Amino acid sequence: MTQARIIDGRAEAERLRAEVALEVASLKAEHGLTPGLAVVLVGDDPASQVYVRSKGEQTLAAGMLSVTHRLPGHVGQDELLALVQSLNADPAIHGILVQLPLPSGLDEKAIILAIDPDKDVDGLHVVNAGRLSQGLPALVPCTPLGCMILLNRTLPSLAGLHAVVVGRSVLVGRPVAQLLLQADCTVTIAHSRTRNLPEICRQADILVAAVGRPLMIQGDWIKPGATVIDVGINRVPFRDPVKAAEGKTKLVGDVAYKAALEVAGAITPVPNGVGPMTVACLLANTVTAAKRIHGL
Ligand code: GUN
Repeated sequence: MTQARIIDGRAEAERLRAEVALEVASLKAEHGLTPGLAVVLVGDDPASQVYVRSKGEQTLAAGMLSVTHRLPGHVGQDELLALVQSLNADPAIHGILVQLPLPSGLDEKAIILAIDPDKDVDGLHVVNAGRLSQGLPALVPCTPLGCMILLNRTLPSLAGLHAVVVGRSVLVGRPVAQLLLQADCTVTIAHSRTRNLPEICRQADILVAAVGRPLMIQGDWIKPGATVIDVGINRVPFRDPVKAAEGKTKLVGDVAYKAALEVAGAITPVPNGVGPMTVACLLANTVTAAKRIHGL
């Protein structure tokens, strides 16, 4: 058996960003429209700060307007809601993203519900989830959208394939299952209470792992030739005791990658698989939102 094809998420993300930049240039030239993305960061979580800086830089690099609002962790619910409402009303802003998780004490659901669904580039508002579940035009969460782009670039057709999604989160599992259904897959959603999980995974032509458990999906859970999309980003200590003692960590996915390489037909690595697609899809969603708001 030959080794699986490694799906290059970094290259695909670069391609998508270049496409977005071209579209932004033509929206500016033909319609005088510059898509604008506002990112709201509350508190000083280090990982969130890194993500938010990267989102801002990539937004600017694509030729769009980027606005970042940084609020202290002790900000009140009303003040945060007032900011979201002012962004809803701002005609220069077409996309609003409130970086999650929010510090405790803030009602995350209420904040997301306050975002204008037509500017909800995270696709987390119930209106967008509802539109997606009915197959209507929606703003779709970025990571699931990235998974679908990688699948469509890997497989000639998705129709009729059995897709197994492991995980049922609002951010990934549920929306990616909806997108796979829309692409005419037969979809199974598995989760922490699923019985015979290995057996169900072995039936998958497409296996999407989005559980957040390091290396949980074993090589012998994978059907030979299957396409494996690993959404997991887990930080774990090195196995090498010297590195581990230095407190060094590495990123691993939800799939036992080395074993999976020997069985799968194609697989996304961690890092540089699904991860880079997420911000690229955020940029794409901002362009989609700007066009829809302006009836283009
Ligand atoms: N934090 C980690 N991932 C995400 C995401 O996709 N959207 C938001 N808003 N926050 C996140």
